Amino acid sequence: MPIQGSGTFAVEATLGSLVPRDGKALVLANGAYGKRAAETLARIGRSHELYVTAEDTQPDPAEVDRMLAADASISHVLLVHCETTSGILNPLEPIARAVAARGRSLILDAMSTFGALSIPTSALGLGAVIASANKCLEGVPGVGFVIARTRDLEAATGNAHSLSLDLADQWSYMERTGQWRFTPPTHVMAALDTAIDLHTAEGGTPARGARYAANRRAVVDGLRALGIEPLIPDALQSPIIVTFRCPDDPRFGFQPFYDRLKAEGFIIYPGKMTAAETFRIGCLGTLTPGIMRDVVAAVARVLDDLGVARRRAA
Ligand SMILES: Cc1ncc(COP(=O)(O)O)c(C=O)c1O
Repeated sequence: MPIQGSGTFAVEATLGSLVPRDGKALVLANGAYGKRAAETLARIGRSHELYVTAEDTQPDPAEVDRMLAADASISHVLLVHCETTSGILNPLEPIARAVAARGRSLILDAMSTFGALSIPTSALGLGAVIASANKCLEGVPGVGFVIARTRDLEAATGNAHSLSLDLADQWSYMERTGQWRFTPPTHVMAALDTAIDLHTAEGGTPARGARYAANRRAVVDGLRALGIEPLIPDALQSPIIVTFRCPDDPRFGFQPFYDRLKAEGFIIYPGKMTAAETFRIGCLGTLTPGIMRDVVAAVARVLDDLGVARRRAA
């Protein structure tokens, strides 16, 4: 089901439509997007519980099982597949199994993985998968979408807290009329159509995921050789975005680093972590390992320029 707006709109539409007014959601949060889902539930008057882990720590499936066993009123669980705050990949399969075994419904925020990492929606019995056009699908921003069972969408009639973010209404209207309820994001959908053709031509999700993984390897290996370490352990690191620790040198400042890299033609992300001084480099988009090596070379020049000590190539 497509829904106009950015990814956050799709998350709010899903939570407001699929979690019944007397339902309760368990939110697994290890970063900003899990916390935003919890804030959304609070704003729309849905009961929720938070299971918070540190930004570099995955939620434990055994703890999820324990929390579900202890509270029969929890109807839904929300998991962020890749928490883009840090780039950590959360353990989808064991958590999906724990949630299914307790007969609850798992809502997966796959905003930053859909199109690059395989999501076995039916095999894992997922209740809903939420994504948007503009991350791994490489479309333009302006539409999100939700994959859910038709019976759940039908059962959601009357649940929504909002007219425009009512997934059940959007679904039944489209089914009945073949039209969008409100002005459709025509150009965004045309761009998405082309983006999906390009995704298919590249070899679909496995090929796109492999390219992003090669991008990650190139940037992590290159920056490590300069003495800049990723914050998330390699085994938990998604191929989508990498958080690096800022060099521990008083001459390093994020803003001059950012400005100089921008002048070199590369835009990075500020860190979003609360616990450490970091910056982030995205591996998604029309990037290649060659471009990532150019990024590493630019970082080396900028560090020299700022007078920041760095490990020199042997
Ligand atoms: C995992 C995740 N969830 C939700 C969002 C929110 O999407 P948007 O910024 O498009 O509203 C993002 C955006 O970065 C995200 O990475």
